[in-house]
Amino acid sequence: QICLSLVKLLFYLAHSPLGSIVLLDFQPRQFVMVDGNLKVTDMDDASTEELSCKEDSDCTLDFPTKSFPLKCSVVGKCEGINEKKNLFNAYRYFFTYLLPHSAPPALRPFLSDILNATGDLRYGINETLKAFEKVLHLYKSGLYLQKRPLHLKDYISLKGFRTVEREDYKCWPSYSHLGCLLSVHSTEEAAAICNSQFQCQSFIITQRQTWTGRPLASFQSSPTDLIPDANAIVYIKRSASSGERL
Ligand SMILES: *[C@@H]1O[C@H](CO)[C@@H](O)[C@H](O)[C@H]1NC(C)=O
Ligand SMILES: *[C@@H]1O[C@H](CO)[C@@H](O)[C@H](O)[C@H]1NC(C)=O
Repeated sequence: QICLSLVKLLFYLAHSPLGSIVLLDFQPRQFVMVDGNLKVTDMDDASTEELSCKEDSDCTLDFPTKSFPLKCSVVGKCEGINEKKNLFNAYRYFFTYLLPHSAPPALRPFLSDILNATGDLRYGINETLKAFEKVLHLYKSGLYLQKRPLHLKDYISLKGFRTVEREDYKCWPSYSHLGCLLSVHSTEEAAAICNSQFQCQSFIITQRQTWTGRPLASFQSSPTDLIPDANAIVYIKRSASSGERL
């Protein structure tokens, strides 16, 4: 959410009515999240001036770890230098920290491609935004999931009950520090996640949703403490011992 929001902001800056705007002080502390959108706190540290040049060698974009040779345009400006500077800063201050770690496994290659393409400035801001929107579409639509349900058959569903929220085993990237609360596309995906975690014995799909509209599922190490709830369903892992208990 943070990276996509940043890319939308940089897309706006690259095509602003004032020309392509570069952020001069590109530190994470210069940004704030307001209602899920990233905003720049101080536009005084921004410029629309694009570097003037006589030849290509005047147009090197320098960073501590890397330099990029750019072209000098016929009007004597370094082509796209503001957009490229913003994008590489987004890569080094945000993408490298945030993109690799929390996506479902099937979406990780798409994020690696974005990381690689922005890290080498092979993408401009337009392609970067397009690539992010594609990942978001796959994520929201569930198209990244396996087509055939495989995991739900390992569970017994108990309608009219839910588990009590209490401290339980932790997982990453959980939405709650008390236990394992993850966003899922479907009950089937929740079952696949529960199967992949040896502590998990049961789960419920809660009424809460994330910014993408995906519901949060709560995973638990045992289905004790069931309470009646007409709208809920508890899914309990089938195994020799739970079979006996039920
Ligand atoms: C992108 O991938 C190529 C080929 O694997 C690699 O040589 C290059 O270092 C990568 N760039 C970044 C920024 O990760
Ligand atoms: C990027 O998108 C903007 C806005 O849609 C468009 O005006 C511009 O021509 C595009 N630039 C490139 C290099 O495709």
